[in-house]
Amino acid sequence: MTNRRPLIAGNWKMYKTPAEAAETARQLVERVTGVTDVDIMIAPTFASLEPVFKVIQNSPVALGAQNLFWENEGAYTGEISAPMLKSVGCEYGIIGHSERRQYFGETDETVNKKIQAAIQVGLKPVFCVGETEKEREDEQTLSVLDKQVKKGLEGLVSDQLDTLIIAYEPVWAIGTGKTATDEQAQEAHQFIRSLVKKTVDNDLAESIRILYGGSVKPANIAALMEMPDIDGALVGGASLDAESFSQIVKFK
Ligand code: PGA
Repeated sequence: MTNRRPLIAGNWKMYKTPAEAAETARQLVERVTGVTDVDIMIAPTFASLEPVFKVIQNSPVALGAQNLFWENEGAYTGEISAPMLKSVGCEYGIIGHSERRQYFGETDETVNKKIQAAIQVGLKPVFCVGETEKEREDEQTLSVLDKQVKKGLEGLVSDQLDTLIIAYEPVWAIGTGKTATDEQAQEAHQFIRSLVKKTVDNDLAESIRILYGGSVKPANIAALMEMPDIDGALVGGASLDAESFSQIVKFK
């Protein structure tokens, strides 16, 4: 890590009722009050956004959404738009998580539209990329990342991307307990940074935060954060418990 400000983000996926989410948020706020050198975000389910926001307002913890649709409003049953998420306090929006690509038909094209929609309303996109186990075995990791990053950012220019965050999440490491080694993660992060340099520009490549995700825990965060191109983490399972997530936040 260099002088980029770390971001530790929790993806709560489809867990916790609104009451449970608010309680975990309360416990987290208690534990991270006073943390000033790390950005912290949690992304509960849509139903929990408002109750969680009430708890974390005026704390170091920011709110994120797990997904969004690219139109602002309309006849799109079951969807939610970027302006709606902003209006309930979201600062970040996770886009293109591998579970959405795998189970809900997200493609590089829809991911691109969602990134544009988020940027338009000032929601910081957390743009997820990563290879499957088969792709890694077939030595396609870098070509998969190349395609995902280029297509995801197509048509966007440097000025629009200053709030962009990229999360490298090898699909085989998500929820499996298998973490990429620090070196595997560093190699992918360095490659993604070089892609940003090639396709956008050098300044953005230097400033953009690239998070690692996939079985991050209190026990492995410090070593990951030692890597020069790892600027934070997107945490699933270990973010559901306030104590373990706060230990990750306080990795130093
Ligand atoms: P995990 O999930 O930490 O449970 O592996 C990470 C993610 O899906 O963002």
